[in-house]
Amino acid sequence: MSAISGEKTALLRVWRGGPDQEGRYDTFKVPYEDGMSVLDALRWIRRHVDSSLAIRYSCINANACKTCMAVVNDRVEYTCTARLEPTTVTVKPLPKRSVIRDLVTDTTPAEEKLESFNQERGQ
Ligand code: FES
Repeated sequence: MSAISGEKTALLRVWRGGPDQEGRYDTFKVPYEDGMSVLDALRWIRRHVDSSLAIRYSCINANACKTCMAVVNDRVEYTCTARLEPTTVTVKPLPKRSVIRDLVTDTTPAEEKLESFNQERGQ
C-alpha cells in the first residue's frame, strides 16, 4: 500500500484467487481523485502495487467492450463507469462464471462452448 499522507484515499478490497479456489480479499489503499472509476483504481493498483492482479478491460471508459464487468459492492457493474468513492469498495468476479484468475472470468457464451466441445469430439 502507498498513498501520500493527507490526500483522500479509497480502500479497495479485491477478490484474489483462481479456478476452484476459495480465494481471499486483498486490500489496497488507492489515492482518490474526483471522477475516478473503479477501473482507474484497479489499474492504479496494477501499475503501482501489484502487477499480478488480473483484470480485463479494453475500451477503458467508452462503455463499448463490456469486458470490465465485475461485482462492485454487491452490484454487477462496468468497472470503467462505476464511480469510485473515497470509502471502502469491494470488488469480486462475476457470479455464475468460471473464474480464470482474480477478477477475470470466462465470458464465452455457452453455445460456443458446446460447439467447441463437439468439435473436439469430432461431432
Ligand atoms: S472497459 Fe470497455 S466497457 Fe468497460
